[in-house]
Amino acid sequence: MPTFRAPRGTRDLLPPERRAFARLERIAADLTARYGYRPIETPLFEQTAVFERGIGEVTDVVEKELFRLAPRSDESESWALRPEPTAGIVRAYVQHGMQTLPQPVKLTTIGPMFRYDRPQAGRFRQFWQFDVEAIGDPGPAVDAEIVELGLRFYGDAGLGGVEVLLNSIGDPVCRPAYVAALADYYRDRASLLPALERDRLDRNPLRLLDSKDPAMAAVNAAAPRITERLCEACAAHFSAVQAHLAALDVPFRLEPSLVRGLDYYTRTAFEFYLPGREGQQQALGGGGRYDGLVELLGGKPTPGIGFGIGLDRVVLALDEQASDRAGAADAGGADAAAPVAVVVGADPEATADRLRVATSLRAAGLAARAELAVRKLGRQIEAAARDGAHFAVIVGDELADGNVQVKDLQAGTQKVVAVADLARELTRAHGAHRHGVREQTPE
Ligand code: HAM
Repeated sequence: MPTFRAPRGTRDLLPPERRAFARLERIAADLTARYGYRPIETPLFEQTAVFERGIGEVTDVVEKELFRLAPRSDESESWALRPEPTAGIVRAYVQHGMQTLPQPVKLTTIGPMFRYDRPQAGRFRQFWQFDVEAIGDPGPAVDAEIVELGLRFYGDAGLGGVEVLLNSIGDPVCRPAYVAALADYYRDRASLLPALERDRLDRNPLRLLDSKDPAMAAVNAAAPRITERLCEACAAHFSAVQAHLAALDVPFRLEPSLVRGLDYYTRTAFEFYLPGREGQQQALGGGGRYDGLVELLGGKPTPGIGFGIGLDRVVLALDEQASDRAGAADAGGADAAAPVAVVVGADPEATADRLRVATSLRAAGLAARAELAVRKLGRQIEAAARDGAHFAVIVGDELADGNVQVKDLQAGTQKVVAVADLARELTRAHGAHRHGVREQTPE
């Protein structure tokens, strides 16, 4: 047993997995740029009140899962690690006066989130989200555009079978009457409710609907549905969102029990879901409209909508789908860190010469590594091949005349090249190889 281990519910992303995340980050950056979203970075921790007020005090995320930082004696503020990025981004929108910019302000971020939940497959205490937010547009067209963007992300990542679940959860006009009806319904069945849910009944009955407690499934299945009680404006918005999705050929399924776990939502609520996976892992992402959040965090009334996609779950699902396909590549694609060339030496002690040649190659833009271990040439070349290098550059006596030997480890050929031409020659030969051009036999 090692003395220290990563904290429970967290993982080290080792290079193959980190590469898979980096690939998703690139896809997300490319996609959001095309849709006009600009990157934003907010702190990993905020004043606790940002989350309590934004997400809601009577939610799992705040009540049970918030990583609260122990207060320091010299500070009156209380801080918490972010469980999600929306509240922080909206705090930044208000703080930096972004309501004076052309609306909507379209922002995107990717990074770790923290929830002190019971760890299990696909549920971590530190996990990554790809998030987008369009603040300042009441919809309904942007609602559909955002759902389409999310779905396209999975498509571009190569993940098949992702479905969209859609609902409307009303607004302050129609929701209070619905919540009252829901509370009556649960009160009539109080004896069937687990203790925590009974306790929440008077404080936030809506949260009972998305309870993770299996004992709630049967009670929830027959609960009153918000979609039957939407006010006229919400109903019109909801049907316009559906019409826009249809116009974009985005398939979706109406799911009247979908209420999402955060209190800031109004009207449109959606989830990206992969059927067939275990429980919580099915939710690969989710989002919705939050027309009251900007005001709640001290700004002028401003509508907004966004989503968060759980990258850990996407990587897991990609791995599962890849292992279902014979001979599929891993989720990360090719190892971009494999060097084009490794500089080796006939004189094992001449590490400075090898380092100098490798440094000049790197300065010319090539991925090159110097073999710094003091060992026999044959072993150095073996290590270069194991590293996935295309060439071994062999530094020997010819260096005195300004030359080195270049061994093509893939073709098995070898030739003398002037150090002055080395970077150009390697770049040309490596490029030709990658584009399938047959190399000349060495002179
Ligand atoms: P959320 O549904 O709480 O929404 O989280 C979004 C996604 O993050 C989930 O669908 C899931 O894939 C992933 N996720 C959540 N918790 C965990 C966990 N413990 N381990 C692994 N993955 C997890 C939000 O966070 C909202 N901020 C989304 C949003 C943005 N709504 C509007 N704008």
